Amino acid sequence: MALGVFGEFPWARPRRLRAGKGIRDIVAETRLHPSMLMLPIFVDERLARPEPIESLPGHSYYPPEHESLAGLVGKAMELGVRAFLLFGIPRYKDENASRAYASDGPVQRAIRYLRREYGWEPVLAADLCICGYSSHGHCGLPRECRRGTCIDNDATLEIYRRIALSQAEAGADIVAPSGMMDGQVRAIREVLEREGYSDVAIMSYSVKYASSFYGPFRSVMDSAPRFGDRSTYQMDSRNALEAVREAALDIREGADIIMVKPALPYLDVIRLVRESFPYVPLAAYSVSGEYRMLLEAVRQGFLPRSAVVEVLTSIARAGANIIITYSALEAARELAGVTGA
Ligand code: PBG
Repeated sequence: MALGVFGEFPWARPRRLRAGKGIRDIVAETRLHPSMLMLPIFVDERLARPEPIESLPGHSYYPPEHESLAGLVGKAMELGVRAFLLFGIPRYKDENASRAYASDGPVQRAIRYLRREYGWEPVLAADLCICGYSSHGHCGLPRECRRGTCIDNDATLEIYRRIALSQAEAGADIVAPSGMMDGQVRAIREVLEREGYSDVAIMSYSVKYASSFYGPFRSVMDSAPRFGDRSTYQMDSRNALEAVREAALDIREGADIIMVKPALPYLDVIRLVRESFPYVPLAAYSVSGEYRMLLEAVRQGFLPRSAVVEVLTSIARAGANIIITYSALEAARELAGVTGA
């Protein structure tokens, strides 16, 4: 027993628990499972057939009532991925983002269609924002103010209420406000209760940073702000403690699930929010730039495909119990041990 390094504890050999896959699995602290993954889906009301999305390889735009949309959801559910986050691309954009709350808007139609096809089996979450539906590309309504042009918080809440109601009426399980307006959770909770949708959950993008990692998504949605940027409403990446405050407010306002976004560059924030609020489900959104970054590294041969599950595992280990990811299906396949396409 030449084990000088262990000194008086020669029996302390951590490698014992790494000896084989079975023993590694039984002591694993983090268990990534397809049921904790949520797949974003883009529905475009202008389309008659699906179209590949250039900036998110592997993803497509779907017409709201097309069999290909049902096909995608069906395939995902077979792999154990049962939750979906729907984004809509409107026929036209206007100042007030009216297609975001139209009862025949892209997301509303897609939800109705999927309910007809699959009943309440899939968990359908609807992104609730106006940036992709508005002519200005902001998440709130621009107004003249003493600083020039500002995003009018409280006027925006009126639009969010309408969107929430239309999504609930269409059959959403979850509405997911992503615009970072103050008081958005409370405004939405109020209208849902008043209108008889107390069973609709709110997953709030509570801790959402002004980030460079949203680039591919904005080209997918054509949702980049037409002037200025989002730093008057999204968080400053230098702040972590502020995340605790944002999350606390959302929980008090009635959020059922809180979220940190992006994920990979903010693992410290995920951990901090998890420890600050151990009793609230926490989602992390691994955003489009994270997906694209890894995908390119894998495509160019710098990293093996297993890097994807390693990154998702890091997000779960940091404390997220829901992970929103464009890699949901590949990850589910890998977790099931299915190789190839
Ligand atoms: C905004 C919104 C964004 C994303 C989803 N909803 C970010 C933004 O444009 O500021 C980003 C998602 C991604 O990058 O995958 N409502």
